[in-house]
Amino acid sequence: MSRIAYVNGRFVPHRHARIHIEDRGNQFADAVYEVWGVKDGALMDFAGHISRLTRSLDELQIKPPMGAAALAAIISRMVTLNHIRNGLIYLQVSRGQARRDHGFPPANTRPGIMITAKPISAKKAEARAQKGISVITQDDIRWGRRDIKSTSLLPNVLAKQAAIEVGAGECWFIDREGKVTEGSSSNAWIVTADGVLITRPATNDILNGITRRTIFNLAKKAGLKIEERAFTPDEAYGAREAFVTSASAFATPVVEIDGNVISNGHPGTFSLQLRETYVATAKERALQPINRPSVWLVARGGERLVN
Ligand code: PDD
Repeated sequence: MSRIAYVNGRFVPHRHARIHIEDRGNQFADAVYEVWGVKDGALMDFAGHISRLTRSLDELQIKPPMGAAALAAIISRMVTLNHIRNGLIYLQVSRGQARRDHGFPPANTRPGIMITAKPISAKKAEARAQKGISVITQDDIRWGRRDIKSTSLLPNVLAKQAAIEVGAGECWFIDREGKVTEGSSSNAWIVTADGVLITRPATNDILNGITRRTIFNLAKKAGLKIEERAFTPDEAYGAREAFVTSASAFATPVVEIDGNVISNGHPGTFSLQLRETYVATAKERALQPINRPSVWLVARGGERLVN
């Protein structure tokens, strides 16, 4: 089955998808991105990712390539064209194509947009979650605006590779005060001995994960106690549970950190329950096509996306 990409206004076969060498995303990482999880054909947390995309573009003064409703239609089309039941949609918007100069290009430069789709084995992802992953830690060497979902991901790439090389699933970054910021591509959580969920507050130090926010709300609704504060690796080693959240991992339990086994070495009940609830309620927060192909139903909080 051939994969389809969307590049600068056109759906094209993935193998023929091209951007220009002077796209600023390519030369300067002058671009932002978003990733949606697709679960049983539904785009998860659709509206949340759209609003973070809008924010990232605003913060970097990159023009939105189109309105949110048009974007929603294109993204949904990508899901159907690529026959994605379970997988990921990747979207990237750059400041456009221009002769290489550090300063912004002329104001009439069109932003560049590309979208790809990738299937994921839901079975494998579930098996990984049921087993739990191990995590290593490394100094956080990133810039000061980690709240912007920029494509400038070199430290994240190096950290993830370091994890892979020792058979770990994620690397947690440690700030100058010795506290965990987040993972290379996920947010970090622990559960204390007395059952309190801890995750770092969403400042400029971390990406405000859309999954993080949803899990936060689900946990609150379930009556769990949550504290938004930074924690140290030492506190994490002694935690009752640990887990990571992201569009691709949902909530995935962590069973070992820096070689220290967490609790009894098995995924914690809070982590697994939150994962289950997240998946079970995904449809409520998803973008779903309804009868007419040009009309899209956007879940709670995203109504303003529909023209
Ligand atoms: N990563 N922190 C970082 C550094 C991330 O890259 C991500 C997501 C998250 C979690 O955000 P969300 O819940 O909105 O996915 C936190 C995506 C999945 C990626 O880069 O592939």
